[in-house]
Amino acid sequence: MIYPVFLYGSPVLRKIAKDIPEDFPGLDELINSLFETMYHSDGIGLAAPQIGMALRIFVTDASPLEEDDPSLKDFKKVFINPLILSYEGGIEKYNEGCLSIPDIREDVEREAAILIRYCDRDFNYREEFFEGIAARIIQHEYDHLEGRLFTDLISPLKKRLLKKKLTSISKGKVDVKYRVKHL
Ligand code: NI
Repeated sequence: MIYPVFLYGSPVLRKIAKDIPEDFPGLDELINSLFETMYHSDGIGLAAPQIGMALRIFVTDASPLEEDDPSLKDFKKVFINPLILSYEGGIEKYNEGCLSIPDIREDVEREAAILIRYCDRDFNYREEFFEGIAARIIQHEYDHLEGRLFTDLISPLKKRLLKKKLTSISKGKVDVKYRVKHL
């Protein structure tokens, strides 16, 4: 099912998301809905809080960026109850956007590589190392589970310049082709 994407200003985007138990009813349906909603809105990652559920799960599929980075070909993944174990490689800048914050893109500094533990869709524990754009996407989505948005990571000056735009996004004044929801 395609869900509306909750916009900047929605309280659910600021919640600390809760762990998903292994016997969570409708887990498959939730995973499918996250993928469907992400594809429908041309995203490369989507976290459950963005469809109004404060749960620790996000999905990714960065195959649209495969030309920039061939290693992204197989980066279609489900991350349940993830935990970033370590950060490596130093700080890098990359231009980020977010389906919950349409029409705003900013350079964001993040660590170049991460080691993460998570459950896959069959609830098998995995530990994996990611770098490059994959590490970037994971850190962005992981932040959604912590109630953090990429606009929290930019300079106060840049944030001030975006204030008007962010306020109108929080009122639902956006021009996108996917369904959105505010509050
Ligand atoms: Ni986002």
